[in-house]
Amino acid sequence: MTLDAFRDGVAVITGAGNGIGEALARAAAAIGMRVVLADIDAASIERVSAEIRAAGGAALPVPTDVADAAALDRLAATTYEGFGDVRLLVNNAGVETIGYVWDIPADLWERTLKINVLGVVNGVRAFAPRMLEHGAPAYIANVASVGGISIFPVETAYICSKHAVLSFTECLYLEMQMQKKPIHVSAIMPGPVATGIFEAAKGAGIAEHHHRSVMRDMLADSMQPMEAARIIFDGIARGDFWVSTHPELTAETARGRADYLANLSRPSLAETACAILGLNDVPAT
Ligand SMILES: NC(=O)c1ccc[n+]([C@@H]2O[C@H](COP(=O)([O-])OP(=O)(O)OC[C@H]3O[C@@H](n4cnc5c(N)ncnc54)[C@H](O)[C@@H]3O)[C@@H](O)[C@H]2O)c1
Repeated sequence: MTLDAFRDGVAVITGAGNGIGEALARAAAAIGMRVVLADIDAASIERVSAEIRAAGGAALPVPTDVADAAALDRLAATTYEGFGDVRLLVNNAGVETIGYVWDIPADLWERTLKINVLGVVNGVRAFAPRMLEHGAPAYIANVASVGGISIFPVETAYICSKHAVLSFTECLYLEMQMQKKPIHVSAIMPGPVATGIFEAAKGAGIAEHHHRSVMRDMLADSMQPMEAARIIFDGIARGDFWVSTHPELTAETARGRADYLANLSRPSLAETACAILGLNDVPAT
């Protein structure tokens, strides 16, 4: 597998201050890309950028709230001024939100959907026109989740946002095909990766405390972010549409979802889901 398509190019990574985004930024720098790190957490991207530069790489931290369309336009302007044409855009920034639908305040619903869905939409809106105009090979990767092809309660805000990211990315792929330009589009489908996403999650109501601690413990034992970044880079470089850190889990989940839809089944909880939720038995439907 060759990563030559990326070497010497410019990578823009949102949510690059922690977790998978930080690992992607480090992986991009390690293969010789100049990296623009965007995150709402300015201190974290300063830290990661300083470490990349200390190792001989080129990094530009740009504090950015992806929920703000104008901030993504500014990110694009700063990137093209500072580093030139973009080879790779990874719309990675995302947040978890925990709680029953009715317990989550309206402003938290809005914030979650703005970051997870419109953050990706506006990332593409800010960068795609210049990629298309330049006409050189470029890559757009949107980070969805295995949650984008499954359903799960008490993470409803997150799950429906990831379904939206996935269908957005599928339609974007088709729109790029219509342009007949070498702009590759990938849907990134991480399975469990050991990041602090559940510590950072906002939440509300009685479901929050239990679910946060179960999920935090579950992620602690999962794949390391640098391993996930390596798999993600290889998949994007191959030009794959579906890029999964856990291909078997993704395939099994997709088969389950396809069966469920083909049979127009009622939503139901698998035993593993009941265990995660601390339910003693599967509720009757
Ligand atoms: N960790 C997993 O198991 C997992 C699984 C599936 C999908 N994902 C997805 O991977 C992506 C990265 O998640 P992670 O696990 O690395 O999480 P993380 O919490 O470790 O990192 C997320 C980063 O996004 C930043 N961020 C949050 N809100 C932002 C905003 N408004 N603007 C800019 N940056 C913002 C945070 O500051 C943080 O640096 C997310 O889209 C997430 O949904 C993660």
